[in-house]
Amino acid sequence: MMRQHMMQRILMVSNRLPVTVDTSHAPYTLNRSLGGLATSLGAVGQVYNTVWIGWAGNQKQLTEQQFIDLGLPSNLVPVNIPKYPFHHYYDRVANAVMWPTLHSMKPPIQTRASDWNAVRHVASLFADTIISRLERDDIIWIHDFHQILLTMALRARGVTNKVGFFLHTPFPSPAVFATITNHKQLLTSLTLADLVGFQTKRDETNFIAALKEANLKPSVHMQTGVFPIGIDFDLYANAHKQLSVQTHYEMLRNKFKEQYIVLSISRLDYTKGILKQLESFTKAVLEHNLHHITYRLIVAPSRESRIEYRRLERKIGRLVHTYNRRLERKATQAYISFEYRNHSLDEVSSWYRLADMLLITPSVDGMNLVVKEYIAAHPKPGTVVLSYTAGAAVQLEQAIQVDPHDTSSIADGIWRAYSISTLERKDRWQHMRKNVHAEDIFAWATSFVAALQDAESRHR
Ligand code: F6P
Repeated sequence: MMRQHMMQRILMVSNRLPVTVDTSHAPYTLNRSLGGLATSLGAVGQVYNTVWIGWAGNQKQLTEQQFIDLGLPSNLVPVNIPKYPFHHYYDRVANAVMWPTLHSMKPPIQTRASDWNAVRHVASLFADTIISRLERDDIIWIHDFHQILLTMALRARGVTNKVGFFLHTPFPSPAVFATITNHKQLLTSLTLADLVGFQTKRDETNFIAALKEANLKPSVHMQTGVFPIGIDFDLYANAHKQLSVQTHYEMLRNKFKEQYIVLSISRLDYTKGILKQLESFTKAVLEHNLHHITYRLIVAPSRESRIEYRRLERKIGRLVHTYNRRLERKATQAYISFEYRNHSLDEVSSWYRLADMLLITPSVDGMNLVVKEYIAAHPKPGTVVLSYTAGAAVQLEQAIQVDPHDTSSIADGIWRAYSISTLERKDRWQHMRKNVHAEDIFAWATSFVAALQDAESRHR
């Protein structure tokens, strides 16, 4: 158990709480939330006195008592978001416009005034909840793009506490960011924070350039910084000691006996490069005559209210079928095994342990924590094929880096990783593991909070 820092309380704010209440049918249940943000931020509560404010995934409004009855921990504060603003705020602005734009992709829709009114309405719900809990010395730490307007809402209500904002996604070039209808207001809101943090230098540079292009002078008091997020290293490194993980791992080992395992794990998302990955794996197998090899593709359902996500899932299913037929005709014992469902931490840890190679090829990614989890959890030296455009590639120079837009580059990376010498594999692995261990989630939180505490505030 880690000792808590004796310091100010932190109000952590994110769109999603680390737990999700499933209100689709009675009785309602409380489940673990998906995604790197929820998994990682949970660890921050081990070292700081935190209260976490966010949406609990409930599609229906719940009373405080209902949350208590479901066992919601007292340091998690749910924000009820009514159906009307929710659809505009989450489905349309956050997921159909902000998300693709931040990943330098074209949004499938254009926003209307009603969408932004809804975003402002949700920001005001969050601001009111924060204020209802706020004490004089609390610091407020806002996470991710959903709540970019929140700092403005807080300052408009006279909040003078220190506010830090951390963007978990990439920040695109100024020209791309400027395609968002409301981009100036979003940037202005960020300038009202005391510290704005990014995953990589590239993101920070793009943000500063965007302020300049929008003629918004970065305030002398607002600071920016680069804080690459990490994972709870020990949690993953020790997972294989759990009996439940051992049992599951043995079962998988028997099932996939004699097979070389290539693993890919992600949320369902078009930024994750899954379609190109499928093609590249097939290409590598056929060009290099690889046999006794299984590509295990684990995809967790996500944002299914958006049609482009539902379409993507169907397309992955069709392609898996097509490529498996091709492999069946031309290769020996080479398969793609696709599973579309949420996996528990135990299951994921067993897969990490079993996999000889991890294949992570997003078109662009804020960080990508799966790659760090694999490096912590796999007890022997393994290999990693990683897009050079993922934030994690900056720290993990020793991964086999590939161009996610080019199937030849990915296929070549798979072949290089497959045929790497034991010595080189060990050497690359040691460097990566050392880095993932040193720059873990606690180092990340400590450096962000220290920078926020040091930032000179003009709001008080
Ligand atoms: O930064 C990526 C992110 O948007 C996180 O905020 C979140 O944890 C994850 O993706 C999952 O997305 P959602 O909350 O929309 O299911």
